[in-house]
Amino acid sequence: MPVFAKKPEDSNEYTRQNAAVVHDNSLRWVFATFESDETTLRNNLVARLQLAQGHRVLVTGAGAGNDLPYLVRSLGGQGEIYAQDIAQEMILSGAERHRVESAKSSVELHFSVSDATNLPFADDYFDAAYHFGGINLFPDIRKGIAEMNRVVRPGGKVVIGDEGVAPWLMDSEYGKMLIRNNSLYACEVPLHLLPESARSVRLSWELSNCFYVIEFSVSDRTPPINIDVAHMGTRGGSIRTRYFGQLEGVDPALRDRIYAEAERLGMSRVEYLESLFRSGLAGH
Ligand SMILES: C[S@@+](CC[C@H](N)C(=O)[O-])C[C@H]1O[C@@H](n2cnc3c(N)ncnc32)[C@H](O)[C@@H]1O
Repeated sequence: MPVFAKKPEDSNEYTRQNAAVVHDNSLRWVFATFESDETTLRNNLVARLQLAQGHRVLVTGAGAGNDLPYLVRSLGGQGEIYAQDIAQEMILSGAERHRVESAKSSVELHFSVSDATNLPFADDYFDAAYHFGGINLFPDIRKGIAEMNRVVRPGGKVVIGDEGVAPWLMDSEYGKMLIRNNSLYACEVPLHLLPESARSVRLSWELSNCFYVIEFSVSDRTPPINIDVAHMGTRGGSIRTRYFGQLEGVDPALRDRIYAEAERLGMSRVEYLESLFRSGLAGH
């Protein structure tokens, strides 16, 4: 497995010794605070990947591999899981924690110390990609999502969840307490950073509306659109003419005369303008 960029040792909370134990403590705090059950939540999110026997799935920012048992079960006893994390300390703990059970299962586990924003995997290599709880820290969140999208085959699912107080709670005391406690709760849902080609996008809120979950299906093309459907009515034209056919500004009095004449002739503005331009250009 190639090793791409990784954090220097001791550069943040995930690269220190015992980072996995510290992370376990913070997870306990999260689930106790939001009176939620970790097993139920992780099962629920992993189910959204729609995994089947034999699938190959990627987990980015996998940490100490807390999701691995859920993924193993959802593969029905056969498949491949690639767990990657930028912090060697975390991924080594993951490999160690899951060594025994992985030896018993015919699901193959692979561990990679690499950067989720520059993944060492080929395009379309996976059937699904999953991320829980670290993307807010990525230096380039758009790239982190784009990389998950790139390595999943068309039709496969991407599921991403992380802390973030829902927008309607942001200015409430409820939201402010959480943000004062940990500034990551102020993180915005990165819906605007999804790839143009994302299909069947769903956003939901977990952990008392303080954890966003985005899911989408991967596609190799942007959603279908016919930009030549003509508009009925006064303006006329189409998406193509309104976007690509913009002209310079003209004298407003002349503009009003043109609009009035179009109305008198029962033509849309675009039809009338195009007829004027065509006749003006005839012979040139
Ligand atoms: C809060 S932990 C979540 C761990 C695990 N997903 C879980 O559910 O418990 C966030 C993880 O994201 C990792 N991470 C942060 N930036 C990363 C990056 N650019 N590439 C890969 N992993 C990264 C951290 O090292 C850490 O292990």
